[in-house]
Amino acid sequence: MAKEPTHSQTLLGTMDKKDYIVDAFSADGLCPQEARQALEQRYTPILEITKKFDRRSVSYQLSKKNALHSWLKYKEGFSADLVNILLDEMGAVPGDIILDPFLGAGTTALVCQLRGINSIGYDILPLSKVAITAKANSMSYNLEELRQMLHRFTQLVLPEGYSKKTPYINITCGAYPEHNAKFIQFATEWIDQSDFSEITKNLFTLCMINSLERCSYTSKSGQYLSWDSRSEKIIDVNRRREEAGKKPLAQHTCRKVIEDSRDAVADELRHVLSNLETIQGSGYAGTPSAIHYTQGSALFQLPQIADGLLKGVITSPPYCNRYDYTRTYALELAYLGVDEKGIKEMRQALLSCTVENKSKVEALREHYTSIGAGERFHSILSRIRTNPALQEVLQALEMRKAHGDLNNDGVLRMVEGYFTELAFLYGELYRICQPGAVVAFVNDNVRYGGEVIPVDYLSTNLAEQFGFTPVKVYCLEQLKGNSSQQMKKYGRVPLRKSITIWRKE
Ligand SMILES: C[S@@+](CC[C@H](N)C(=O)[O-])C[C@H]1O[C@@H](n2cnc3c(N)ncnc32)[C@H](O)[C@@H]1O
Repeated sequence: MAKEPTHSQTLLGTMDKKDYIVDAFSADGLCPQEARQALEQRYTPILEITKKFDRRSVSYQLSKKNALHSWLKYKEGFSADLVNILLDEMGAVPGDIILDPFLGAGTTALVCQLRGINSIGYDILPLSKVAITAKANSMSYNLEELRQMLHRFTQLVLPEGYSKKTPYINITCGAYPEHNAKFIQFATEWIDQSDFSEITKNLFTLCMINSLERCSYTSKSGQYLSWDSRSEKIIDVNRRREEAGKKPLAQHTCRKVIEDSRDAVADELRHVLSNLETIQGSGYAGTPSAIHYTQGSALFQLPQIADGLLKGVITSPPYCNRYDYTRTYALELAYLGVDEKGIKEMRQALLSCTVENKSKVEALREHYTSIGAGERFHSILSRIRTNPALQEVLQALEMRKAHGDLNNDGVLRMVEGYFTELAFLYGELYRICQPGAVVAFVNDNVRYGGEVIPVDYLSTNLAEQFGFTPVKVYCLEQLKGNSSQQMKKYGRVPLRKSITIWRKE
């Protein structure tokens, strides 16, 4: 089994391609692994360990200090650098159309806009719409209006006796100190009733969204919101624990100071305003281009796009890692008016990446039938069901489930849903790409119950089934860390972070 590199090995560049290749996919050889090994052999010739991209470029890190790209704190985002490199590699020029079916904070669309390239984007979360609208209008804001808005906002005082609070859902109940919960609501009513332009109001919403975590008792950590020990919620839990003779929860501080909502929003507004002064001051008008954004599921939108439209695709889907966007962004979603039912529906609509996701196959069947594309549905589904490596992964997870190795049985349904849905996407992308178009997907390999799932090669194999030519699998020098649980039980394996590149000939 290949060893995971040490940090110094990575820095010294002593890594060898073989350090990135998996030979044992199934820990202790419990399950069949020949089909995955065959993929490893098939695609290793196009594997390129690269310095061109690193952990920072495939994450939000580089965007933090970047004008515009820093406007929505979206840690699942990738960087503008990555998009620029990929656009250069695919030879995209003004007038071309690039798609990002999982738009997030809008990095792909925005970089395209700055280069005069048209783009199409989808996302299910309403945050995306706020972000892309705010960023795409950078040259259209009236800075004087923004300054006035900021000035009037900083003068706002919560009226005596004001009792309304910003909406919440179960998991965000009690997330703000009372004054902040009221002020957020009050400021929202103020901006809604104001006569500022719609783009100014939207920019305010973006700044408000960005401020929510700062003035709450929560922080985004891993899969869940973590709660500060000063919150009523944790104080209450500890009271009950004490009554039951249990030790209190370990002290946890999300941030030193829970900021005042007005100060936090004003700070965010000043940040965007100063960016806008620079951007508009540069006088760069760019080449006109269009961003077509739709809030909705790419799975149900792509089947309706015309054939042969795209020059390329640059995207990063949710990873197959149980990460739930609706939990991480619960504060922001509740603020935008998504209620309990809405959150549940949104979770189900997202690409299957949580153990709670149910199969979308029947809904897809109905959708394809309703648009007169029933045959396409069957053709895509039959290819998915005959892919040897995917079938092997599902069989292996079934065996691991029976063996008691999965810490949640929903993992099996999640993995099946994840690849089924991605394969529908790959099938559609092939159809809507023009000849010569290039598709780039950023993704991470994963491991469940001792079974390595080579997301990069498996996706490449599915894409190849639909007609794409595999061009390259860029792999970041830094491998993904193994979870301590899996490592203890099954040992270490290299888990690649990759960018797969396919072409339609
Ligand atoms: C890894 S993030 C993409 C980040 C993006 N590249 C950026 O730079 O901000 C994945 C996104 O996919 C979205 N998503 C998940 N399922 C989707 C679906 N079925 N259709 C459209 N978007 C979806 C999520 O809401 C999330 O914003």
